[in-house]
Amino acid sequence: MNNQQQAFDQRIEKDISIEPKDWMPDAYRKTLIRQIGQHGHSEVVGMLPEGNWITRAPTLKRKAVLLAKVQDEAGHALYLYSAAETLGADRDDMMDKLIAGRMKYSSIFNYPTLTWADVAAIGWLVDGAAIVNQVALCRTSYGPYARAMVRICKEESFHQRQGFEAMMQLANGTEEQKQMAQDAVNRFWWPALMMFGPSDDNSPNSAQSMQWKIKLFSNDALRQKFVDNTVPQVLQLGLTVPDPDLKFNEDTGHYEFGEVNWNEFFDVIAGKGPCNHERIEARRKAWEGGAWVRESAAVYAKKQQEQQQAQKVA
Ligand code: 3HC
Repeated sequence: MNNQQQAFDQRIEKDISIEPKDWMPDAYRKTLIRQIGQHGHSEVVGMLPEGNWITRAPTLKRKAVLLAKVQDEAGHALYLYSAAETLGADRDDMMDKLIAGRMKYSSIFNYPTLTWADVAAIGWLVDGAAIVNQVALCRTSYGPYARAMVRICKEESFHQRQGFEAMMQLANGTEEQKQMAQDAVNRFWWPALMMFGPSDDNSPNSAQSMQWKIKLFSNDALRQKFVDNTVPQVLQLGLTVPDPDLKFNEDTGHYEFGEVNWNEFFDVIAGKGPCNHERIEARRKAWEGGAWVRESAAVYAKKQQEQQQAQKVA
């Protein structure tokens, strides 16, 4: 084994961050670009289901909060794309791959937001699930990714709280509002559990990612943590979890729950979910429509650089 590999292995073993200038195995770099790039795509596509409710928020306060949340998600994507660029990834290339279906984004964003309660459920359940996953990633072995996560998690807590508060208002509202809240839980509960990825025995990337401490907990372990955290919140709202097999196990201190519909999961990540086409179409239109902005900014930057060069020479 060469010295570089040995030094890398020791850093991982001693929980010393791997930094952009450190030697790393190509496969480690490739795995990180895949995961960080897809994480960034999840943030960008995640803006779409909520974004289409900004003009229809029920009050000015809800509109302002939702605007702030969607803007935060755009910022999260920029942190993540910048982290991927420290590994040599190219942002245009990652975007082209997303639009061509050669890079993924989180399955959850392929479900429609049919009512205002869905927007509340996304904040509460989806960002709640993202927090469970992202808090763990604050200690991931790649330095820039871990540091991006620390910043992102601070904002996610606001996202989750505002979603829960909006849900609480509905659950304590009229019978019709409470039913709307329950419908949203019924439709988002299982897709939220799918966010953590396939079961551990069916996760081709987990073993290596855990060896490299990119992933610190398995998919099933984080899914279980989310269920244990969230079931009490559902009950506190006077709502029910759409899982007849759910039961608390006094001995283990965990909730046991039914089998995830893995056929649905694999269909959705294969592009056959309710909104996959619509989401990619929206991203393609935005990317093509924004080309002139990127080109003008590049021309402006080049001119700036030439002027600075000329001043240096003069
Ligand atoms: N949606 C889409 N694809 C998924 C998925 C999901 N929920 N879960 C797994 N997959 C894909 C994986 O990307 C992998 O495909 P690939 O090899 O082509 O990339 C395949 O299914 C097998 O899954 P593995 O478990 O082997 O893959 P990983 O080890 O990468 O684990 C993961 C999957 C847990 C999602 C991991 O990639 C991860 O932790 N990613 C970072 C967190 C993230 O992306 N979260 C998404 C939500 S972000 C969000 O909600 C933002 C919020 O602010 C709105």
